[in-house]
Amino acid sequence: MNILIGQDFDEFSAVGAGRVAAFIRENPGKLLCFAAGDTPLGIYQALIAMQARGEVDLNSMYYVGLDEWVGIGYETKGSCAQVMQDTFYGPAGIEAGRIRVFNGLASDLEKECEDVNRWIAARGGIALTLLGIGMNGHIGFNEPFVDPERETLLVDLDEVTAEVGTKYFDGSSCPIKGITVGVKRLKEADQVILAACGEKKGGILKQTLVETPTIAVPSSLMQDHDQLTIITDTDAFRAMWGAGV
Ligand code: PGA
Repeated sequence: MNILIGQDFDEFSAVGAGRVAAFIRENPGKLLCFAAGDTPLGIYQALIAMQARGEVDLNSMYYVGLDEWVGIGYETKGSCAQVMQDTFYGPAGIEAGRIRVFNGLASDLEKECEDVNRWIAARGGIALTLLGIGMNGHIGFNEPFVDPERETLLVDLDEVTAEVGTKYFDGSSCPIKGITVGVKRLKEADQVILAACGEKKGGILKQTLVETPTIAVPSSLMQDHDQLTIITDTDAFRAMWGAGV
């Protein structure tokens, strides 16, 4: 496990972007799975800036969306698809044919899971995944006590996720179900990056990295991945030690 610590959000983002860009340069044409959420937004901005300087070709890769809220579509502000389009795929100029995101409005959600899983398989699986860590340890919408053997799945969202999720919907309540790439597919990735920043993430970072892995904390299931990189900042790292490690 590598742990990289930035002094602040900008340095955290630059470190994350550098790591992802290095992987892209070495693995053109492979499939990436990026999280929505606030944590990686600076990493996406930094990657786009690197591309503008000619340091990386983001359009040389394929992208699968990590997750989506069920019952809303791209048009709804707060959907993972719209967040990713506005903050990364659009500004990075990624061709539509290189992207597959979950359709939260699909009439048959189990079939949508299967279709996304087939799309992933057809590209040789996920090469690198960049994941945020939720306050409850979820990764994507793999909520506490998830079945770690699922490749893609439909889930009932945890109450912590529903509470935290209101921030994406201007404080309004958010959907109660989600659709996500599963732990099995994420663990198959050649490289896993777990990103967490800010003091509030100290406790869950400790549970993720130091305590015994458990399905009660899905992020901890990544502990034994042999190419795991943690990207964090001094606020989260200090809080983690303050949390009694
Ligand atoms: P955040 O969300 O990056 O907005 O903190 C992480 C998550 O809940 O998955």
